[in-house]
Amino acid sequence: MSLFSNKVVVVTGGSEGIGKALVDAFLALGAKVATCGRNYDKLYQIQSLHAGKPLLIHTTDVSKEQECKNFIDTVLKNFGHIDILINNAGISMRALFADVSIDALRKVMDVNFWGSVYCTKFALASIEKQRGTIVSISSVAGFRGLPGRTGYSASKFALNGWMEALRTELLDSGVNVLWVSPGFTASNIRNAALDSKGNPQGESPMDEGAMMSSEACAQHIIDAIGKRKRTVVLSAQGKQTVILNKLFPSLADKLVRKFFYKNNTLIK
Ligand SMILES: NC(=O)c1ccc[n+]([C@@H]2O[C@H](COP(=O)([O-])OP(=O)(O)OC[C@H]3O[C@@H](n4cnc5c(N)ncnc54)[C@H](OP(=O)(O)O)[C@@H]3O)[C@@H](O)[C@H]2O)c1
Repeated sequence: MSLFSNKVVVVTGGSEGIGKALVDAFLALGAKVATCGRNYDKLYQIQSLHAGKPLLIHTTDVSKEQECKNFIDTVLKNFGHIDILINNAGISMRALFADVSIDALRKVMDVNFWGSVYCTKFALASIEKQRGTIVSISSVAGFRGLPGRTGYSASKFALNGWMEALRTELLDSGVNVLWVSPGFTASNIRNAALDSKGNPQGESPMDEGAMMSSEACAQHIIDAIGKRKRTVVLSAQGKQTVILNKLFPSLADKLVRKFFYKNNTLIK
């Protein structure tokens, strides 16, 4: 028996990367899992891999309020309640603010921030009854703005502020509210990241092989949920960035710019 046996765990964006690793790990721990994404074929593939296990898949675009409501209602109808909600679905972007379309910025905010708000709103009453857990997957970009990622950084800062306020509101409710900030983690996020026109980049200049694996990241998230932590910044580079930015913000400006630029051009 694990801590998560028979718990109902909802993971948004479970067809790729960190979300998929969370789905795999929670099923292995004996949880009942529900997940969503926009692409049915990717979700169906995962369901086939876990045939016979309690995995519910649902085609949902989390940037659409009504689709989030349908997803959460379907989970409640099938599993009866929700113990843990993980707001994981997210997209990134790579384009300078001067070039990026307003639509691309809005899309990132709609998925990363509003998608988390909608799912939490519809799941909250059940999670409160269960004295469960609400998790949002944030980013180091939610503590330190990153060049070329203005919309992404804004969405993760918004997520952190909303989670902190919600945590305070729920302090005496028995619900734990936790936000986790992974560092660079190998996944599809950089390929799917929007370009200046709001289309997927399709490729990334970064070395995915040198990053934390999605499976290791998922394990850190599961440990943090088990320990009912408040907030976790994964990766040494992420922790250094957060501390440096707090103590020496002007130096952080220069170092962050140096990391993302070469010859005055955004490279990462
Ligand atoms: N990987 C990193 O380096 C890193 C670092 C810090 C934070 N994070 C955060 O970790 C989370 C997971 O990212 P990842 O790296 O695992 O990305 P990923 O490999 O690109 O996976 C993203 C998942 O979200 C789903 N998704 C995207 N847009 C959606 C939408 N509108 N509605 C429903 N589902 C949607 C995708 O499925 P569909 O495309 O089928 O919808 C996919 O299952 C994100 O919140 C991200 O910001 C990642």
